[in-house]
Order: sequence, then C-alpha cells, then structure tokens
Amino acid sequence: MQIDVFTQVPHAFAWMTEQRPLAAVLGAELELRLFNYRDTTPLRSGQVDDQPYGGGAGMVLRVDVVAAALEAVYGDSPEQRVVALTPQGRPLTQAVVEELATEPRLTLLSSRFEGFDERIVTHLCSDAVSIGPYVLSGGELPAMVLLDAVARRLPGALSDGSGEHESFSDALEGGIEYPHYTRPPEFRGWTVPDVLLSGDHGRVAEWRRDRSRERSAR
Ligand SMILES: C[S@@+](CC[C@H](N)C(=O)[O-])C[C@H]1O[C@@H](n2cnc3c(N)ncnc32)[C@H](O)[C@@H]1O
Repeated sequence: MQIDVFTQVPHAFAWMTEQRPLAAVLGAELELRLFNYRDTTPLRSGQVDDQPYGGGAGMVLRVDVVAAALEAVYGDSPEQRVVALTPQGRPLTQAVVEELATEPRLTLLSSRFEGFDERIVTHLCSDAVSIGPYVLSGGELPAMVLLDAVARRLPGALSDGSGEHESFSDALEGGIEYPHYTRPPEFRGWTVPDVLLSGDHGRVAEWRRDRSRERSAR
C-alpha cells in the first residue's frame, strides 16, 4: 500500500516512522510519502492560505495551492481516493479503517487554522473523514491516527494473532475486548479472576466471550 500525506508540517510524522506498527511495515507493505504544500505552491514566499471571503478570523487553505500540490505528484488528477481530514467529515470507525486498508493507494490531506477552502473537499477529494466530534489545531494528528489504524491492518504490522481479537473485530462480534491481566496474580489485594489461572482454555475462551459481550452491551 502507498499512502501519501499532504501537510504543512511533514516533520511531525518523523517519530511515527520509528515506532510500530509503521516501522514494521515501512519499506515492505507500506510506502509513506510526505508532501509539503509549500514546496509546490504557485504563490510567492511559500504562501498556502488566505483570508476568508466574507470576513472573519483565521486563514483558509487555498484550493489553487492544493490543486498544484496534487498535480505535481499525480499529474491531471489522482486515481486513488483522496481523503480530507476534517471535523466535518464521516466519523472514523473500525469499519472505515478496514475499508481504507484495502486500497492499494491512498492520499490524505490535512489543513490548519480555519481549514480547507470548501472547493478542495467538494472537487479535489473523494472522502472527508473526522477522527471525532472535537476540533484539533491541525490535520496532522488526525492523519497519524488514520495512518496508525490502517498500518496495523497490514500484513506484518503486528505480532501473530494480536490483531484478531481486538475491540470492534469480527472475532468479538464487533464488540469491545475482554479485560486483560498479567503478573503478579495479586497486588494490594487486587486479584486476577481464577479462570485465567486455571489453564483451561475452553473456560478462558468462554469467560472472555462473556466479558466482551457484557462490556459491549453497556
Ligand atoms: C482548527 S481545524 C478547522 C476547524 C473548522 N474551522 C471547523 O470548525 O470545522 C484545522 C484543521 O485541523 C484538522 N482537524 C481538526 N479537528 C479534526 C477532526 N476532529 N478530525 C479530522 N481533522 C481535524 C482539519 O484538517 C482542519 O481543517
């Protein structure tokens, strides 16, 4: 899979490339390319945004700047899905992640300040995705959230089996995961459920399924 991220802050992504799951799939299952709108802007002095028509606070990412950035990489128009990260988009769920993870190529657009000129979302993007009903200062964190969630669905991202029984997975009927415990078996009088120490895999599986269903019904 190839994921292209367009941003005003490409260096913000550096730490991510050194950590799992990205580090595990980069150069193999995943190629990550970072593009700065400033490198291809047709405006002087690296300008990428402008004041909003109609007045008001903040600066708006310009449509001609984003079009130039896309053209520089893809020519006329990109064939892959182009996703705008915006609080006004479709909520990001595990189902959306699974859907996007099947794409061979994906483009993510982030913005800052007041956000995108609406024509970017309407005419240059195929999708608009929100990571939640709150407003962040820029699209870099949302792009990283999407990148991480998609990368962990790629082969080799996780150690064997660790992605199968996670919250929202089919294995858990779309519900949330059961609780986990590790050593010590008792701490400050807080104990681990006996069944997990029993060595009886059938009972453990049944207990986990019941806890998952119980938590998901809340
Ligand atoms: C300050 S926000 C703009 C908010 C916009 N004026 C609004 O009220 O909907 C700047 C940029 O951060 C990103 N962003 C902020 N919150 C986000 C969220 N919940 N999901 C996805 N992107 C977000 C988007 O790229 C957005 O254009």
